Amino acid sequence: MRILVAGGAGYIGSHTIVELYTKGHTVVCVDNLYNAKLSAIKNVEKIVKKQIPFYKVDCCDKKKLETVFKKEKFDAVIMFQGYKAVGESVKIPIKYYRNNLDSALTIIELMDKYNVHNIMFSSSATVYGKNAKSPIKETDDALRLNDITNPYGETKAMIEKILMDKAAADSKFKAVILRYFNPVGAHESALIGEDPNGIPNNLMPYIAKVATGKLPYLNVYGNDYKTKDGTGVRDYIHVVDLAKGHVAALKCYKSKKQNLFVYNLGTGNGTSVLDLVKAYEKANKLKVKYKIVGRRAGDVDKLYCKPTKANKELGWMAKLDIESMCESSYNFENKK
Ligand code: WQD
Repeated sequence: MRILVAGGAGYIGSHTIVELYTKGHTVVCVDNLYNAKLSAIKNVEKIVKKQIPFYKVDCCDKKKLETVFKKEKFDAVIMFQGYKAVGESVKIPIKYYRNNLDSALTIIELMDKYNVHNIMFSSSATVYGKNAKSPIKETDDALRLNDITNPYGETKAMIEKILMDKAAADSKFKAVILRYFNPVGAHESALIGEDPNGIPNNLMPYIAKVATGKLPYLNVYGNDYKTKDGTGVRDYIHVVDLAKGHVAALKCYKSKKQNLFVYNLGTGNGTSVLDLVKAYEKANKLKVKYKIVGRRAGDVDKLYCKPTKANKELGWMAKLDIESMCESSYNFENKK
């Protein structure tokens, strides 16, 4: 299939492009490079040994994005684009709503105009809200906008709703919604990985900076949660497994029975902050200094999924373990 990857220069997007090429698909990548670097696409080209058509386009810019739809033909669109920092979204909510909703609506309208009927959306476990009980199943009553803890998560839930309503109104339109748990790690080449600008918000890239001496120590946000060691538990999934989940989900477009698909992409295992620190130290034979500090607003005790629906229906299962997540994260950070 020929696929438009919106936000393809980003962390998940770049790893997904690698796996798409590995399975014989071809890609056109659009990205405004607001939170990504063109070097990521160049490195993807090195890995897949192919030229990747790239357009520096902001997906909110309908006129400019339309030139890409005019020039290229697509069988499907994968939407990775969007702002994604939970804490930042609380501070600048309107920027998040404008950018994330506007870019998604612009893409969907252009898909309609150019007869592209297959979409895949990068959603997040955050849509389950703070009261969800782990292990979380897709059938749980998600999209309870009232108990999602941040505007970032609400934009994800709203875009899911937009896709569900569009699929209900248009049987030709096929939407696949993938709810990521906590993507971490990097491609084995260490050419691409998680490379946020500035101080990382997320745990794994922060540990990577401490492990490589770029930051003095990790702040562990609270050790009084209802978990085995008091620190937050999450479902960490290797970004390569996550990328493969997208390729596996392409089979949904062949379905004659339904045109809306929702899957959790996670391992089903919960790992605490301190467990991850220990795994990082063991995998890379080093010490990670940390300090226990107060809780971070919006955090929940536990968040991990039941991945059985994706396992069964997509024939996909996360295979890479915590050790390889930690090793690949360190190798990438060290090589940057
Ligand atoms: C994990 C655990 C923290 C940083 C978010 C988004 C989700 C997705 C992944 C985009 C928690 C603890 C963290 C630190 C710490 N983002 N922590 N010190 O919050 O589970 O999920 O990122 O798609 O949508 O919600 O990920 O890595 O920030 O936190 O102790 O410096 O690590 O309290 O328990 P989170 P995270």
